[in-house]
Amino acid sequence: DRYQLWGGCFEEEPSAVLKRLNDSLGVDSRLYREDVFGSKAWARELFRSGHLSQNDHDALQSGLDKVVQEIEQDLSLKGSLKDPEEDIHSVVERRLHTHAGEAALRLHTARSRNDQSATDTRLWMLASTHRLRNTLIELITVLVKRAEMEIDIIAPGYTHLQRAQPVRWSHFLLSHTWSLKDDVMRLEEQMKRISRCPLGSGAIAGCALAIDRNRLARDLGFEDVTPNSMFAVSSRDHIVEFLNWATLCSLHLSRLAEDLIIYSSQEFGFIRFSDQFSTGSSLMPQKRNPDGLELVRGAAGLMLGTSVAFNCVLKGLPSTYNKDLQSDKELLFASYDKLLDCLKVVTGSVKTMEVNREKAQSALEPGMLATDIAHALVRRGVPFRRAHHLVGAVLRRATALGVDLQHMSHAEYLAICPDFGSEEELRAIFSWEASVEQYTSVGGTSMSSVRVQLQELNTWINQT
Ligand code: ARG
Repeated sequence: DRYQLWGGCFEEEPSAVLKRLNDSLGVDSRLYREDVFGSKAWARELFRSGHLSQNDHDALQSGLDKVVQEIEQDLSLKGSLKDPEEDIHSVVERRLHTHAGEAALRLHTARSRNDQSATDTRLWMLASTHRLRNTLIELITVLVKRAEMEIDIIAPGYTHLQRAQPVRWSHFLLSHTWSLKDDVMRLEEQMKRISRCPLGSGAIAGCALAIDRNRLARDLGFEDVTPNSMFAVSSRDHIVEFLNWATLCSLHLSRLAEDLIIYSSQEFGFIRFSDQFSTGSSLMPQKRNPDGLELVRGAAGLMLGTSVAFNCVLKGLPSTYNKDLQSDKELLFASYDKLLDCLKVVTGSVKTMEVNREKAQSALEPGMLATDIAHALVRRGVPFRRAHHLVGAVLRRATALGVDLQHMSHAEYLAICPDFGSEEELRAIFSWEASVEQYTSVGGTSMSSVRVQLQELNTWINQT
């Protein structure tokens, strides 16, 4: 027989189709540990506040321990829970009843599934955001290690996907790393707001029995309690924040994925992904496809869709608990699972890829030093805008002569502007190393500036 938490005033069973739409066990069974953990703390608080006898309390504690073991056994045997009840809260209570008997009927004293489910979700989020944070830090560590090892590689930097200026390969890797570090900071900021315990808010009005909500919250590992019972059962702002955060984080992964996909194409050939993080074609034997990173790129779209979907669910809802809110967990779990896998695939891809430094350096061409030639004129007192135009004229002349900037004669340069200086000074501009080494100010691509970034990131990693 199905154990119903409600129905005393009903004469008929819900229709099968309503039951199917309403049941959430398929999704919220994932919260069984949090549900039991929360129930154990609730039983302790009822006992400490004098609303439960010692015997009943003991029966509930040992009964709930058995429920977890039993659910874990079922999950390992059958993969999912087959209980006929509508949600995990009903399943736990029915199973508890078989172990603890009458005492089980006292567990839900002054509690509602509204504060219970909100508490379970927040507990789950506390652990899950912590895990995501650590996984992100692993990716950051891998990027920093590569950047340290490959600091001597100079590669083309692109804007509009057109060759722009030479940059250190490490500088490129770290440009992505800083976005990910900001993601960690943003996640930590949210964790403070997640860490507020709704339990003791009841269905809407609070708890009619005297309990100590602060003690209960501490018992569950929360930093604080929710300050208003109506807010506690209705707010899903922390979930909105998380979904938006996951969207931004996945956009960062997508951008990195896209850069690496381009760099791995034969036309670029800067990197080669390991077998572990490449896939093949069923028809073309020679193919090595970056499917993993393409899925990461696509996932950013799915994450945004999920975030928009939940914002749409909330739009127009009246306050406090409405069943629409039940979809929060489905979307939350989907985003979390996807993001965690994406982070691991990006980490593995970056960790095991091979960088072809010759290929990267051979993609540099003298035109990428046009800005440096303009700067050489600026150092001789020529106003930048004029220098820009003069170098434009140099480029036009070189094209007309069919030579590149490096090989155009000194006389041609002087004919355009006498400030180009000696031949020796002019030729010295054509060095990739000399070019990047000019950028020594904070955040630049010179060796020393990149080392400052590495040091800052390493210090941060070591203290996290
Ligand atoms: N499964 C529900 C949810 O996750 C639990 C709360 C149900 N409360 C209610 N009054 N129907 O949102």
